[in-house]
Amino acid sequence: MAIYSEEVADYIWRNGDIIPWGDALIHVNSVGHASVAGVFEGIKAYWNDDEQQLYLFRMREHMQRFLQSIRMVRFSFPYSEDDLCSAVIDLIRANTYRCGVYVRPYIFQKGMVRELLQAVPGKETELVIDSWPFDAYQDPDSMLHVGISSWVRISDHIMPPRLKAFSNYQNGRLAAMEAHVNGYDWPILLDDAGKVSEGPGACLLLVRNNTVIAPPVTGGILESVTRDTVKVLVETELDIPFIERIVDRTELYLADEVFFVGTGWEIKPVASVDRLPVSDGKPGKITTAVQKLYRSVAEGRKERYMHWLSPVYSTRS
Ligand SMILES: Cc1ncc(COP(=O)(O)O)c(C=O)c1O
Repeated sequence: MAIYSEEVADYIWRNGDIIPWGDALIHVNSVGHASVAGVFEGIKAYWNDDEQQLYLFRMREHMQRFLQSIRMVRFSFPYSEDDLCSAVIDLIRANTYRCGVYVRPYIFQKGMVRELLQAVPGKETELVIDSWPFDAYQDPDSMLHVGISSWVRISDHIMPPRLKAFSNYQNGRLAAMEAHVNGYDWPILLDDAGKVSEGPGACLLLVRNNTVIAPPVTGGILESVTRDTVKVLVETELDIPFIERIVDRTELYLADEVFFVGTGWEIKPVASVDRLPVSDGKPGKITTAVQKLYRSVAEGRKERYMHWLSPVYSTRS
């Protein structure tokens, strides 16, 4: 399933400058180092055709998480949250997007492959912000058939999932590959205690008895902005309880609804787990309601949540 378009931007932001995308090169010998030591974010902007406006969705929260990741890897970093947000807006304007956009800030320590373990303070870093047109797939009828992976989710004492580092994603890649080979669309990983954790690029929620249940932030998950958004929407707009607690694998077999939540996936309903249909295998009532709400909030169609949006092209009065 293609989520991302193959298009590249005209411009990319690198160390304070907006430069032509094709000019942002590093030496091949830096590639391994850059990817192992890199931390990143994923932010989405939504095009509102009625207002001819592009809205960055919860950019500040993503930049706060980016700064937290940078703190955990102990990189020195000269940019503030405000600097980062302004850089993204400048970059998007330079690219003159009039469509949905995915924004990817990332930072890595400079160095050669032979220096892979030279994790010492004070080494030079590169900060890059890339972006690309994002094909928002929002076919409410498309659902995922998922399987529980035999790969175990990384944990805080091994490779902290709370840290959004490129190297953490090998764990999710192994699980996604296994799911593919076994005929599933996507995997769910269990944590090292055998409890439900998340998917490779999205958190997992389930519904039982009209309550939305989320595996806890200590359960091997990334502290997800979308998960927080869904919590607010479920409690405020749907008036349904949202609780955080440890989830057993077999609860997924009995759940009324199961869905992934994440910036890229948005709200993605699960049709079956380990080939057992979730309820009747159709998108559930709560999942569908959250999907609709999420879209309208992200596109700037709900006044109450405008504080979550950063307009790119002009300021609302
Ligand atoms: C491993 C992982 N979990 C969860 C998420 C969802 O996080 P968010 O809602 O902040 O995009 C992502 C996406 O970034 C992810 O990569």
